[in-house]
Amino acid sequence: MHNDLVQIGKRGFYDVAINPALDLFAEIKRLKKEKNAVLLAHYYHDADIQDIADYIGDSLGLARQAEKTDADMIVFAGVHFMAETAKILNPTKKVVIPDLKAGCSLSDSCPPPLFKRFKEAHPDHIVISYINCSAGIKALSDVIVTSSNAQFIVESFPKEQKIIFAPDKNLGAYINKVTGRNMLLWDGACMVHEIFSMEKIARLKTRHPEAKMIAHPECEDPVLKLADFIGSTTQLLKFTETDPGNAYIVATETGILHQMMKNSPQKTFIPAPPHNACACNDCPHMKLNTLDKLYLCMEYEQPEILMDEELRLAARKPIERMLELSKTIG
Ligand code: 13P
Ligand code: SF4
Repeated sequence: MHNDLVQIGKRGFYDVAINPALDLFAEIKRLKKEKNAVLLAHYYHDADIQDIADYIGDSLGLARQAEKTDADMIVFAGVHFMAETAKILNPTKKVVIPDLKAGCSLSDSCPPPLFKRFKEAHPDHIVISYINCSAGIKALSDVIVTSSNAQFIVESFPKEQKIIFAPDKNLGAYINKVTGRNMLLWDGACMVHEIFSMEKIARLKTRHPEAKMIAHPECEDPVLKLADFIGSTTQLLKFTETDPGNAYIVATETGILHQMMKNSPQKTFIPAPPHNACACNDCPHMKLNTLDKLYLCMEYEQPEILMDEELRLAARKPIERMLELSKTIG
């Protein structure tokens, strides 16, 4: 077993030495069974975490799983807004996250007090928010969307309806383009999807002329213009499974390549490079969740997501509206 718990910091950091001989896969499996826990993981995690998860998915899939699970404990290998969404939807369950510091630059780019003022300045607009935001922003929204259902939900409103879209200006601009709307965009962005290098992508395309480029709609417009297919992580994964092509340049966080390679081992997947020294593009927030921390959070059942009930109820309404509206989407 691991040594004694030394300290759990204010934000949920453990200071524990784990015996390197411990089989963490076996331990996590044991804890899942003993505690009737379900492990939900987003595709942007390391292969080890994806391989031990009960469900791997995009934000929409994860929210649906969190809502319907009858496990006693939801272990959420995701960033804070994802675990918080699970608690909002299924409040009687204990929701734990391996690292409470796993935040999101996009969510952080939209502080509720500032957004409240922005909303008040446009009283004739409704608010559609991307799920990558805090409960405070959700509570100020009329409906939530994910990258899987944003187009569908925006199109469910009449063309003349005035809309504020928050917090992702890139996803918002993309939805404006494909729907012909003119939504007012909050100026937020994801630090991972904004740093793809056009120059390096162009070079990759020259070197691999047979490869199709696929991109997440959180990318900036010049990157999206180069893409043969644009979609959420699940949609990108499905595309690579059903498309007749055999090589893909993938413009999203690198973690998704694990499932792509697993599901289509005969195909080639090339991560689109960022404009820094790295060849891959990892989300530093998601990658805070390690296998060690996952084991510890299951063993000690913390850090736990706790919420003010009034805020939870206010944030729940627009998420429920999204789940209801997108029932027909696979
Ligand atoms: P999806 O997996 O829902 O496409 O979201 C991508 C993302 O950036 C999650 O943080
Ligand atoms: Fe947030 Fe971007 Fe990381 Fe997703 S990939 S969690 S949007 S910073």
